[in-house]
Amino acid sequence: MKILVVGSGGREHALAWKLAQSERVQTVFVAPGNGGTALDRNLKDINLSDPAALADFALQEHIAITVVGPEVPLAAGIVNLFRERGLKIFGPTKEAAQLESSKDFAKSFMQRHHIPTAQYQTFSDLKAAHAYLDTHGAPIVIKADGLAAGKGVVVAMNIAEAHAAVDMMLSDNKLGDAGARVVIEEFLSGEEASFIVMVDGKNILPLATSQDHKRLLDHDLGPNTGGMGAYSPAPIVTPELHARVMREIIQPTVQGMAKDGIVFTGFLYAGLMIDEHGNPKTLEFNCRMGDPETQPIMARLKTDLVNVMEHAVNGTLDSIALEWDRRTAMGVVMAAAGYPDAPVKGANITGIPHDTSDCITFHAGTSLNGGQLSVSGGRVLCVVGLGDTVKSAQKHAYDVVEQIQFEGAQFRKDIGWRALNRKH
Ligand code: AMP
Ligand code: GLY
Repeated sequence: MKILVVGSGGREHALAWKLAQSERVQTVFVAPGNGGTALDRNLKDINLSDPAALADFALQEHIAITVVGPEVPLAAGIVNLFRERGLKIFGPTKEAAQLESSKDFAKSFMQRHHIPTAQYQTFSDLKAAHAYLDTHGAPIVIKADGLAAGKGVVVAMNIAEAHAAVDMMLSDNKLGDAGARVVIEEFLSGEEASFIVMVDGKNILPLATSQDHKRLLDHDLGPNTGGMGAYSPAPIVTPELHARVMREIIQPTVQGMAKDGIVFTGFLYAGLMIDEHGNPKTLEFNCRMGDPETQPIMARLKTDLVNVMEHAVNGTLDSIALEWDRRTAMGVVMAAAGYPDAPVKGANITGIPHDTSDCITFHAGTSLNGGQLSVSGGRVLCVVGLGDTVKSAQKHAYDVVEQIQFEGAQFRKDIGWRALNRKH
């Protein structure tokens, strides 16, 4: 059978890599893909990204299942379009994708369905927003309502920063329509984890747990990024906490969406904040897999992903169980010079070794021209090491990172520090 993966990042490379391992697959197409998917002889890039053109392609090629990586085509309604044309696709409809594409939608949904999250209020009026900040004080969190490619959240540690964030979004329109409404919410402290499940509308299949590193620099300093590294499993998510998150957050979300008449299908990603007493709250929902969380998660998945996707699009996720490599997978992102504000493109990339049983290099912002790989985006590569311990997974990843070269490469040297510090 033929499969189509939509997207061009490290997440999509990892999904396509895993799907292509299935013996049932003839071709995995990636649209538009990247340098890594172009190099992989098991994958085939196609230079399309418009949803209507992709649906035409899927019909022509008799694509059995389409898997969508990023949020933008989901929020634009690619799933609605494919389904209208009789095509099987895994992802949420445009309406269901509002859990990610509108923070106000997500917050009012959580409030209505009693799903634990930070207290909040939504504003489009500048004066009212500033007045709310003055009443509540800092620290406080300001979020653009719409999709803002990771730039829509300001965690303001003092009140001046909070007022500036509100001005930036509501008055200077720096984020365009996405910032025309803002959610202002209570600051939560604790440790974050990524909790990702697959949903077929009714049944829920949790993936392995993971934890991301959002800040650019070591010791969690510097600006927020899309994610500088991730590992799986996340030891903070104990079996007890896992059960609690399913019961208090994931199940009420899936049931609540169905009750509201917006059946959720696709990957559902709850970004959690776990407080010092181990209580989880939802920071945000994403309606897709995480990037870079997907890379270590796929590196650990032993079950045939094509079978899983087939159950997902047919509404039978209750009849499949997932099997995971017991090792830890640790993904270290190598980013371009200037990332995240102004990534510098064009540098040649050298030294990527062949994948082995304990290290895989997934590509993101790379392109292949005449046999030469070069940097074409902010996050360039994600090197995933596997090991019996967190430490050995980390060593396997960094041994390969040290071999790879491109001008201005940035990477954190402490990916996995929380898991390493944890006493078992
Ligand atoms: P989001 O896109 O909503 O996940 O926000 C991006 C990042 O901002 C999160 O991963 C957290 O690190 C931080 N953040 C978001 N909401 C809060 C909050 N209420 N309290 C503290 N930090 C937050
Ligand atoms: N790594 C965070 C995200 O994918 O949103």
